Amino acid sequence: MYPYHMPGHKRRAWGELPESMYSMDITEITDFDNLHDADGIIAKLQIQAAQMYHADESFYLINGSTAGILSAISCAVSQGGRILMSRNCHKSSYHGAYLRELGISYLYPSYHEKCGILEAISPKQVEKALEQTPDVQAVLIVTPTYEGRIADVEAIAEIVHAKGIPLIVDEAHGAHLGLAEGFAKNSCQCGADLVIHSVHKTLPSLTQTALLHVNGNLIDRDKLRRFLRIYQTSSPSYLLMGSIDNALHRIETQGADAFRSFKENCIQMMHRLSDCKNLRFLPMDGVHQDFGKLLISVRDTELTGKQLFDILRDRYHLELEMAAGDYALAMFTINDGTEAYTRMVQALLEVDKSVSKAAGFTERMPLLDRSIFDEVSGKTLWEAWDAPMEFVELQESVGRCAAEFVNLYPPGIPLLVPGELIREECYSEIKKAYEQGLTVQGLSVVEDVNGIQTIQIKVLQ
Ligand SMILES: Cc1ncc(COP(=O)(O)O)c(C=O)c1O
Repeated sequence: MYPYHMPGHKRRAWGELPESMYSMDITEITDFDNLHDADGIIAKLQIQAAQMYHADESFYLINGSTAGILSAISCAVSQGGRILMSRNCHKSSYHGAYLRELGISYLYPSYHEKCGILEAISPKQVEKALEQTPDVQAVLIVTPTYEGRIADVEAIAEIVHAKGIPLIVDEAHGAHLGLAEGFAKNSCQCGADLVIHSVHKTLPSLTQTALLHVNGNLIDRDKLRRFLRIYQTSSPSYLLMGSIDNALHRIETQGADAFRSFKENCIQMMHRLSDCKNLRFLPMDGVHQDFGKLLISVRDTELTGKQLFDILRDRYHLELEMAAGDYALAMFTINDGTEAYTRMVQALLEVDKSVSKAAGFTERMPLLDRSIFDEVSGKTLWEAWDAPMEFVELQESVGRCAAEFVNLYPPGIPLLVPGELIREECYSEIKKAYEQGLTVQGLSVVEDVNGIQTIQIKVLQ
């Protein structure tokens, strides 16, 4: 066929990018179905995806898990309603709550003292919170967390369903779960109503590719489709959809071997790293800590997470996923060869020998464990984010209410949500993160005529 239609590249290479990319980048032409109204090849692929993940129905997403999370929240909770969600949710969950003008009640994850990370939400926490907030219309949790902590979704789903409301699971980091033996079940298998997977995060697929799964009868599927149409582009990329199909098809045909050697490589790596005397690691057991998330703790050493990140990058040419105050995080997937593991082990054993223990713990306050929100500013997130604001210097912000999100990126979990009180500990954590060179979104750096820089933050007037 000669293409007398969009896209404008006409399936021919233009500039530096490979010809194959352009030739595959088609649009909704005859026989190629339409993601927003699928009844042909895309519908067939979505059915196959649902079968693989044990879902009732699955949707391809080409605007990332972000689009799935926005749609799930918008569909499960009515405009102006209330949601119960874990405070360590990704910013997209907050954006969903903002768009639908939701009241938010929080589940505060506990703190893993040894590693300085937040734990996954426990069933008990959900049970207690639901008793205190009977008016919530849905519960949203994130598992595995960015750092790989896995929640007991089966127990949580039972508790949530006992209240007659749906459970949404942001499983963006768990698209590999439930696909092979020896890995945790995915949340569809555990009874969650809406489950979101970033295929691009933990499986070999192109960036932006994701899946939304729906189960049971608590979710209005027409409404879900409506929101997917709203939040996703009207020109879904066939390159991206093809990439999801490619990844899932490969897993169906060759997945068992790939997952087996992935798991073996992770276990072997952990074994070899047990020789370290100063660096510590969260053991990957596939139950509490996901395979593939290597969390390297620098607590009790002279290093910060960012310093370790930089050493591994500059000296060993290993680019990690992220660094935080007390740890760095490396990711492994089924598409890593043995080199990924041997290079990491070699580098970490060497670094371990060269660092010394520092006296005592790096004192670090859990940032996200405060329940001071609406009561202080008297404003919900959506009201606070649209309210009149002013810039103040960061050190003057203590005691004021945030008017903007402040996120560490990655992982994109808000340190501050609009409407929240800025406490002393919060201020010093943000300052420390900034000084350590971590990426802190939501601050403004202003330079005066003498070149002196000040950090400013938006607060409510
Ligand atoms: C927990 C979590 N949920 C959702 C997202 C958004 O995923 P995506 O980038 O696929 O839109 C992220 C991104 O980092 C995430 O970490």
